[in-house]
Amino acid sequence: MRIVMIGSGYVGLVSGACLADFGHEVICVDKSTDKIEALERGEVPIFEPGLEAIIAHNRGAGRLSFSMDLAGPVGNADVVFIAVGTPSRRGDGHADLSYVYAAAREIAAAVKGFTVVVTKSTVPVGTGDEIERIFREEFPEKDIAVVSNPEFLREGAAISDFKRPDRIVIGTGDERATELMREVYRPLYLNEAPLYFCERRTSELIKYAANAFLAMKITFINEIADLCESIGADVQKVAKGIGMDKRIGDKFLHAGPGYGGSCFPKDTLALVKTAQDYDSPLRLIETTVLVNDNRKRAMGRKVIAACEGNVRGKKIALLGLTFKPNTDDMRDAPAITIVQALLDGGADVHVFDPEGMEAAKTVLGPVSYGKNPYEIAAGAEALVVVTEWDEFRALDFRRLKQEMKSPVIVDLRNIYKPDEMAKYGFSHFAVGKRKAKI
Ligand code: UGA
Repeated sequence: MRIVMIGSGYVGLVSGACLADFGHEVICVDKSTDKIEALERGEVPIFEPGLEAIIAHNRGAGRLSFSMDLAGPVGNADVVFIAVGTPSRRGDGHADLSYVYAAAREIAAAVKGFTVVVTKSTVPVGTGDEIERIFREEFPEKDIAVVSNPEFLREGAAISDFKRPDRIVIGTGDERATELMREVYRPLYLNEAPLYFCERRTSELIKYAANAFLAMKITFINEIADLCESIGADVQKVAKGIGMDKRIGDKFLHAGPGYGGSCFPKDTLALVKTAQDYDSPLRLIETTVLVNDNRKRAMGRKVIAACEGNVRGKKIALLGLTFKPNTDDMRDAPAITIVQALLDGGADVHVFDPEGMEAAKTVLGPVSYGKNPYEIAAGAEALVVVTEWDEFRALDFRRLKQEMKSPVIVDLRNIYKPDEMAKYGFSHFAVGKRKAKI
């Protein structure tokens, strides 16, 4: 089966590489010369565990290639995925669909026989209808079916999410498209991943509703964490206790500094806007957005409070910058707001992240970048864990205790045990827990 992926960003590359790995013939197209040239040299422009190997393997096998030309590959394709960006539009928070529509027009112009055009990018409800309208009015002679097939990939775990999904949602009412989409995902179907067919609009909403629900779940446990701190309960135990109820489930109940990344902040906002436009407001999600935004700044205040209310002139060390581990993505990372709050308070901020420092340099204010956790911790008055990279879990706390100016750890991801930290002589401030006595 010949598949073309328009947009070789995160979603396009992961999806294209994995589909090639299933045995399909895949061409990933992008307008960026730099990106395509880098990919052709075997360089992968994003950090995603396992992706480089899959790309190399499938290029070697001749199933995966890259191109700046859209028309040629699309003219020969059975299925064309649109995986271009849908950033938040400046000013109003709506998803910016200009890249999607531009890609759709180029695809339609190039299509030859019957072709399925699939939106993989996260697009608001009704986008498929609009693409279909463009095709009908501007390219009436073309035989195209428009399908919605949202992605549910988590950065850092995208390959396994693609290959072992909980479900594959496909929105279409077209029989020929249904057959071709079955063919695309047949290798997964054999693995018993359920293909869930529904109407296109429903499929588009499933994507937003899923992300909004997860964002709300995280925000819920974050507020419970605040309550735990006030009343002296332990949020991890509360999460475990409620998560054992299968109706609730134990996933996405880790309290922390607030959700970030390229999806939850953007998608919750876009859903709120869509709901307002349809005069059907989603109060729970509106509140989720607000609570999460406020939380990031509150985490800065939490660090300042741990430093006896004053960070002016003090060295503060931040471990982890990316919005979560196993990515180099800094988009909407809580670290950005926390760093700003500390800089506003007059702190001398030193940071370290295993993969995110290059990206961080483009979004953080004046901070110093260290080579490892020990370098930034030396002489610091507080060590703040912002992102839970595995390599931070087992630090040499004796050494840290000796080298830090004051033994304060603010553990915004609850990766250390309060009692153990107390044994090492640290003042340990966790999220949603009482402070252990030294
Ligand atoms: C999210 C969804 O999980 C994917 O299913 C979806 O496909 C993707 O968005 C998307 O729309 O493309 P992602 O943003 O990569 O994936 O990352 P998550 O693992 O969901 O984490 C998002 C944020 O929530 C991170 O900042 C993370 O630290 C935070 N989080 C997550 C918590 O604070 N607590 C949790 O229990 C889980």
